[in-house]
Amino acid sequence: MKKIVQLSDLEAHCISDILEVAEDFEHLKSKYGELPPLLRGKTLGMIFDEPSLRTRSAFEIAMKDLGGATLHYRGDEARIGSSAKDLEHIKDFANVIGGFNDVILSRIYDNRAQVELAQNLPTNFINGMCDLHHPTQALCDLLTLKRRFLKLDGLKVAFVGDATNVAFSLAEGLAAYNSQFVLSSPIEYAPLVERFRNIRNFEYVQDPDKAVEGAHAVITDSWTPLNRKHELDERLRILEPYRVTEKLFAKTAANCIFMHNLPASRAHEVTAEVIDGPRSAVYEEAIARLHIARALLYFLLKSG
Ligand code: CP
Repeated sequence: MKKIVQLSDLEAHCISDILEVAEDFEHLKSKYGELPPLLRGKTLGMIFDEPSLRTRSAFEIAMKDLGGATLHYRGDEARIGSSAKDLEHIKDFANVIGGFNDVILSRIYDNRAQVELAQNLPTNFINGMCDLHHPTQALCDLLTLKRRFLKLDGLKVAFVGDATNVAFSLAEGLAAYNSQFVLSSPIEYAPLVERFRNIRNFEYVQDPDKAVEGAHAVITDSWTPLNRKHELDERLRILEPYRVTEKLFAKTAANCIFMHNLPASRAHEVTAEVIDGPRSAVYEEAIARLHIARALLYFLLKSG
């Protein structure tokens, strides 16, 4: 049984195996048009207490590609996240739904609920995103970087904007490869930066111009996370100097790529010139979710 609440729950060699298998499955699918039904008889249960386009689609297709089945539990059915009016005890949910399925993927905003669910499940667990972590996104980001730079060690990634769940998971992933993660974030959000301090090769650089110098990739995330939409005006004011513009991106080397986990706002965190420009890797990064989903499910259900 394996539980992935945060990316560092995976040892570095496991991350490398997942990235390798992701590419193997991609090549097999492209060559033969289908994959062997390695997960026949296996079931993935997915709880989405918050909406998802990419994660949900990728995991549904991945399970189908490998011969397995999926079950989808809406937030109001699962009743263990913040969308529920009438909560079910997480332990009761975990033992019943975990008994039905071979792996549970859950997107519940509150990390504490995700941890409680993972601890109580009698089966495998994947955190499909919470307020603190987005491990499957980080695996997509690592795969994208590996494909573009043919290595994962010795890279510098500059994350410009808010110190989000996506930033934290990617910082954990890069630490596994001795790559550098530089976070450039407003001083107003300094308390959020504190939880990054124990991550190896982490650096905080307040000035975004300095942060992107020598970066292999510049990455950002939405300025309107689910629980902070009410603060939009104040957030826009604070984050304005951290928009990834053509002017900022021009300070990077010619082979530097732009990344974003999507959905993106071309009016907020990044301009259209950058995200729609020739150095943007955002679609490759998003499609990587399918390759990662197949490999992660295989890793949880078939390997070791
Ligand atoms: N990036 C990401 O997690 O996309 P979804 O919210 O659409 O799953």
